[in-house]
Amino acid sequence: MGEPVMVAPPKSPRPAWLARAKHLAAKFFVNDDTALIEVENVADVSADLRPLVENVCGALHTWTYVLFADHHQKGVIVVQRLPDASSLGICKIYVPPKSRNRGYGKLLMYKMEEFALSLGCSFVDLDAKPFDNSISGEALTRWYLNLGYEPLNLGTNHFQKKL
Ligand SMILES: CC(C)(COP(=O)(O)OP(=O)(O)OC[C@H]1O[C@@H](n2cnc3c(N)ncnc32)[C@H](O)[C@@H]1OP(=O)(O)O)[C@@H](O)C(=O)NCCC(=O)NCCS
Repeated sequence: MGEPVMVAPPKSPRPAWLARAKHLAAKFFVNDDTALIEVENVADVSADLRPLVENVCGALHTWTYVLFADHHQKGVIVVQRLPDASSLGICKIYVPPKSRNRGYGKLLMYKMEEFALSLGCSFVDLDAKPFDNSISGEALTRWYLNLGYEPLNLGTNHFQKKL
């Protein structure tokens, strides 16, 4: 009988996007299957999300995060540190119609609120303006109100949340 052969434990299968995430400065892991990944190159954004971020992805002082879940890109959010530094601005948020009403939009917002706190911000600011006709202005306003955002000046689209 020779020495027992050491057998390495089987590696748990890792989704391909997780390996890729390491190169893309992964920032917010939610669970094994869900993460927000920072992207700097529009080519890393899936075709259905790309139109929204084409002009802003990788821009100075902005961060673009793609939400990966179930091996697919489910949504995108672009945020910006505002000049007074006490606030993080939501520039864009988008969840494609086929992925809506599953909590992905909320997850993107909550993670950015955590991010704002980690940057030392006290507020999150945004303009509640529909990106396309897949959601009405009223529905979008309701959506932000439910998340705790309040209109800053009546009659404008500017909403703010105190963290
Ligand atoms: C706004 C948006 C990001 C929401 O994404 P989502 O993934 O569907 O949102 P969630 O699943 O997290 O939201 C769930 C909640 O919102 C409500 N909701 C979602 N879409 C709604 C709609 N069109 N009208 C009313 N309520 C809606 C759901 O009923 C649910 O409420 P509940 O938690 O009380 O049950 C998505 O609709 C979107 O991308 N819209 C177009 C992009 C856009 O105009 N962006 C705005 C600024 S650039």
